[in-house]
Amino acid sequence: MKNIEPHIEIVVAVSQNGVIGREGDMPWRLSADLKRFKALTIGKPVIMGRKTFESIGKALPNRLNIVITRDADWHADDVMRVGSIGAAVYLALAHLESAEPDPDDLEAPLPDEICIIGGGQIYAQAINMAHTLYVTHVLAEIDGDTHFPEIDENLWLEVSSEDVPKSDKDSVETRFVIYERKSAE
Ligand SMILES: NC(=O)c1ccc[n+]([C@@H]2O[C@H](COP(=O)([O-])OP(=O)(O)OC[C@H]3O[C@@H](n4cnc5c(N)ncnc54)[C@H](OP(=O)(O)O)[C@@H]3O)[C@@H](O)[C@H]2O)c1
Repeated sequence: MKNIEPHIEIVVAVSQNGVIGREGDMPWRLSADLKRFKALTIGKPVIMGRKTFESIGKALPNRLNIVITRDADWHADDVMRVGSIGAAVYLALAHLESAEPDPDDLEAPLPDEICIIGGGQIYAQAINMAHTLYVTHVLAEIDGDTHFPEIDENLWLEVSSEDVPKSDKDSVETRFVIYERKSAE
């Protein structure tokens, strides 16, 4: 039995006034962010709230999709349903622990990353258990009805920041930032 310490990552795009969503969707068009999201989550278990799943509309390929809902009868193809965030992390961890090591590199570290991909209700409940925040800062004030919690600089250290040039497929300029939880000393 492998004993993996999970590394919990939040992946989010958030405007300068904390908005992440509007009327069940995202209030921007950001090709650069979609590419970053795919690169960060591919191959990893992804945990989301039922409303975020409904807004995506189908399971994300090549990832274990775990959806949190209080509705025990809820079902969707290629998705695992759970009733709490704790159960979602437990299931993701069991999935990581069942993975076979790479036969070509038996010394390689075992995958330990679990991604939490929204939305507002789930971020608010999960930010306290996260180790890393992958934030796409949307460099504008945007109207919306769903928000990300404040990133408290007493708790989070910015370890990387990259300005992303706006292409014609992006409606707004963005900055990719990685935050690591500060150690409690
Ligand atoms: N900008 C971004 O990076 C980003 C990322 C993801 C989503 N979004 C946006 O965020 C919005 C959706 O966020 P949201 O806050 O409305 O919904 P959400 O967090 O995606 O899902 C909320 C649902 O999750 C379930 N849930 C929440 N807490 C639970 C708990 N403790 N136990 C069991 N089930 C629980 C409930 O499902 P039931 O009602 O079925 O019980 C609840 O209605 C959309 O606009 C979406 O586009 C933005």
